[in-house]
Amino acid sequence: MKVLAIMGSPRKNGKGFQIVKKIEDQLKSYSEIDFEYVFLKDLNLELCRGCFQCIVQGEEKCPINDGQKQLEAKMLEANGIIFCSPVYGLNVSGLMKIFIDRFSYNGHHPRFFKQNALFVANTCGMGLKGALNAMKFIAVWGFHVVGEIGIKWPHYKQSEKEQNKNEKLITRASEKLYQNMIIETPKPQTNQVKHYCIMKTMMRSFKNYDKMFPGDLRYWEEKGWLKKETSFFYEAKLTLYQKVLAFFLRSFFRAVMPMMAGN
Ligand SMILES: Cc1cc2nc3c(=O)[nH]c(=O)nc-3n(C[C@H](O)[C@H](O)[C@H](O)COP(=O)(O)O)c2cc1C
Repeated sequence: MKVLAIMGSPRKNGKGFQIVKKIEDQLKSYSEIDFEYVFLKDLNLELCRGCFQCIVQGEEKCPINDGQKQLEAKMLEANGIIFCSPVYGLNVSGLMKIFIDRFSYNGHHPRFFKQNALFVANTCGMGLKGALNAMKFIAVWGFHVVGEIGIKWPHYKQSEKEQNKNEKLITRASEKLYQNMIIETPKPQTNQVKHYCIMKTMMRSFKNYDKMFPGDLRYWEEKGWLKKETSFFYEAKLTLYQKVLAFFLRSFFRAVMPMMAGN
């Protein structure tokens, strides 16, 4: 089993690293785990130039040639990915934000269906919610989300109560990540079902979608996701609740989207 930790702090031995190290140690106490840290600081991902070509035409049209594609390939080989960012200005760090921007096309062209995601934010005081919300958006790249943890760890001394609370959060999240990684195909999550239904209905209902986002149509057609009989990104059983929700979402968006698109 392979776990990748994508580290958004410029400090390699900071609090975020110490938190993820605890997760690593716990995972390794369960089983043999190939655990790798990717420090975004070392990767020097370039800033997104905003041409929008990756989303509109397809990711192969990105004009930047740095380590982004190699990182994507590495992520696809992992069973679990931990995304860890310190809180900077009540949000994620700049390094993490650049990473999110450069992988944003995955929201339109999702691919990380075999990967379990755990989001970790750490702060010395405030802003955990903002950082976790920014990172949780990564879920639309296809991930099965196993959890999120926000760790308050002051730069001065941490109280014993705070320390115990943090240890519990870390232990629980590690257990959950491990339990999900040993399942071969993750069960569809309701947010993934929503994402699938909304995108598919949009593509099938918008008259000019082929002109708006030709890259999306090509990608989804290649995957077979636009076929009437396909109900999810991969072969899986939806729960009754998810089937009913999918039915209502399809009906609602089929009625509303043509109006939005001016069809
Ligand atoms: C540029 C910068 C901005 C920060 N912004 C906040 C903030 O908005 N709220 C907060 O409570 N802590 C803030 N902090 C403190 C960090 O969140 C805290 O030190 C964190 O533990 C650093 O993580 P690391 O050790 O993994 O690098 C900021 C730190 C830096 C360097």
